[in-house]
Amino acid sequence: MSDDRLIVALDVPNALQGLAMAERLGDSVSFYKIGLGMLTGGGLALANELKQDHGKRIFLDMKLFDIGNTVENAVRGLAQFDLDFLTVHGDPHVVRAAKEGAAGKDLKILAVTILTSLNRDDLDASLLKDGDVQDLVVERAARALEAGADGVIASPQEAALIRALPESEGRLIVTPGVRPAGAELGDQKRVATPANAIADGADHVVVGRPIYRADDPKTAVDAILNELS
Ligand code: C5P
Repeated sequence: MSDDRLIVALDVPNALQGLAMAERLGDSVSFYKIGLGMLTGGGLALANELKQDHGKRIFLDMKLFDIGNTVENAVRGLAQFDLDFLTVHGDPHVVRAAKEGAAGKDLKILAVTILTSLNRDDLDASLLKDGDVQDLVVERAARALEAGADGVIASPQEAALIRALPESEGRLIVTPGVRPAGAELGDQKRVATPANAIADGADHVVVGRPIYRADDPKTAVDAILNELS
């Protein structure tokens, strides 16, 4: 049966393929993440359909970043839909604006710390502050949580450090960058297994390619659920 600690990233090209994958996975998956790739191909309609007709929980991974007023308006619009999680970048002004936009609704605002596909060389290329990536992630997580985020997105390699922050009490830690042992990394650089991520304090793990690119996606899900139980 399903376990909502596993969130499956439906990063397939369009809503039709997303729906076909969700139907193939059936009751074994109860929580889906819909991201930018899909949102440009009917993803919001799919999100609503999976929620309303199939009873799935939905994580909308939009990673919003803009001036506060624009973020607040965007989130207010999205909060009209009955969805569960929404990501914004973890900059405090963005988090505060998103929380304003979601006021009175159940939509949880999750703050992206540093993308799990980035390492120190990538941060240098973007002129981001010197220092160890883990330390920067923890600092960004603390600031986003102080600004009111309901949770943070981080790599499993930082989950334990974030869980140790007093600010993280009662907040969510959601980790992409999760790979079952032996799975291909793709572009992910800061990874761990599903069981390790949960053991280190993650509430949910996000897994995409190891499931939707598997020869048999349902068997891949079952293996992860087994690992988690
Ligand atoms: O295919 P894979 O398991 O790597 O998918 C991970 C998903 O999590 C992707 O949809 C990616 O956009 C998302 N994500 C991430 N790192 C973050 C935030 C979201 O990989 N920091």
